[in-house]
Amino acid sequence: MPLVDALEKYRRRRPIRLHVPGHGGRAPGGLRQWGLAPGWDATELEGLDDLHNPGGVIAAAQEKVAGLFGARCSFFLVNGATAGIQALVAATCAGGRALVLPRNVHRSVLGGLVISGARPVFLEPEVVPGFGFAAGFGLDQLEYALRRNKDTGAVLAVHPNYYGVVGDLAGVAGVCRRYGVPLLVDEAHGTHLRFHPELPEDALALGADAVVQSVHKTGGALTQAAWLHLGSAKVDWERLADALRLLQTSSPSYILMASLDAARDFLARCGREVLDKLLRTARGAAREIDALPGLGTLGEKHLGTLCAAGYDPTRLVVSVRELGITGYEAARRLAAEHGIYLEMADVFNVVAVLSLGTTKSETDKLVRALAGISRRPPAGGRLVLTAPAPACPPSPPMIITPRRAWLAPRRTVPLEQAAGLVSAEMVAVYPPGMAVIYPGEEITPAVVEYLIQVRKSGVHRQGAADPQLLTVLVVK
Ligand SMILES: Cc1ncc(COP(=O)(O)O)c(C=O)c1O
Repeated sequence: MPLVDALEKYRRRRPIRLHVPGHGGRAPGGLRQWGLAPGWDATELEGLDDLHNPGGVIAAAQEKVAGLFGARCSFFLVNGATAGIQALVAATCAGGRALVLPRNVHRSVLGGLVISGARPVFLEPEVVPGFGFAAGFGLDQLEYALRRNKDTGAVLAVHPNYYGVVGDLAGVAGVCRRYGVPLLVDEAHGTHLRFHPELPEDALALGADAVVQSVHKTGGALTQAAWLHLGSAKVDWERLADALRLLQTSSPSYILMASLDAARDFLARCGREVLDKLLRTARGAAREIDALPGLGTLGEKHLGTLCAAGYDPTRLVVSVRELGITGYEAARRLAAEHGIYLEMADVFNVVAVLSLGTTKSETDKLVRALAGISRRPPAGGRLVLTAPAPACPPSPPMIITPRRAWLAPRRTVPLEQAAGLVSAEMVAVYPPGMAVIYPGEEITPAVVEYLIQVRKSGVHRQGAADPQLLTVLVVK
């Protein structure tokens, strides 16, 4: 672990630290009692290299990551996968080129569109029946978009999505190759995929040209630590490195970078073995949950179309629909009554992330707690979901680019009066987990009607300046 070793050597010298970060290597103030030991929290000192121009231990650590993933090169990221996604869009689609992407991409992509001025061309993802969330998209849609948009700078795909579902990425890569367009993949939730043959294949193996992974999500690194791999020369290395210099902090955390170095070492040495155990645990838990009345986990039987070609069993997606409660209520009870905190809940489902750090006794507790919830009907009798998530309206027409909409003067209008105006904000709804409106798009009557229903039914939404959805931001 080149970077970890260098930092430990530095710490052991008991250095006189006349540099930032300005805590002298000691836990600041009251934090000491919590065991925080920031001896590795250093800066660009002799022997510790420079993330923005690496030539020493950081370069060596990045090379080891690239070697492990079979990439041409890899970059450490300290502003999450977010910075990597934004840098890739900026490096491939500047100056108004088209970026072809599904509507269920993460909101970090919006930053890339605003920085680059790219023109998004949206694909409609399919919704997985019974669970209500968006997964992959059809290859015919992609072909159509590429034929009609000769100025496409890149295609962006998500693999896997938040629920662990993957589409036909090999097919997408094939189409991109035929059209000579680089394929960028947001693999924020898939750092671990490469390390077990029973997991869906990872994006680099399937032919992606650039891949971003939130190592902090499923690779065991600390929050915000991520990395980016280039799989081919189709993305210009210089432009990408420059975009990362622009977007990332000038004071990258050595603790975060060391956690990447250590995560790479752990995945290489123990990934397969730990995932072996984890998969057994996850499958056992899924079987037990499936046997509980009113509960069901996402599995093979729900997939099989090319838009939902496979799934990651370490992501336990449990539908609580039949119990007559919402996923929000189930998650609230798991936390309040059992101290079990889940990654996510939506109207129909709860989502547990089983990670490299999860033990069988923890999943056993989850199963027991779910058994309790399935036995005890919700307070006040069975709640019938009178207003389940309505069907998402079709993508509205894009009038100006997200960048122009973001830079334009804006005003707030009541949602009911927004039809025909141009949105200055993004609003995404979960489920299906996709954007209903993007900055620059016309707010159609169907969008207004849908958002009113979303507001009534209490379905979770993200991105809106007014979380109540009473008003929306529009371009003046
Ligand atoms: C699909 C997806 N992509 C990208 C991101 C951004 O990752 P990060 O939090 O590492 O910036 C997330 C975060 O939740 C995500 O779910």
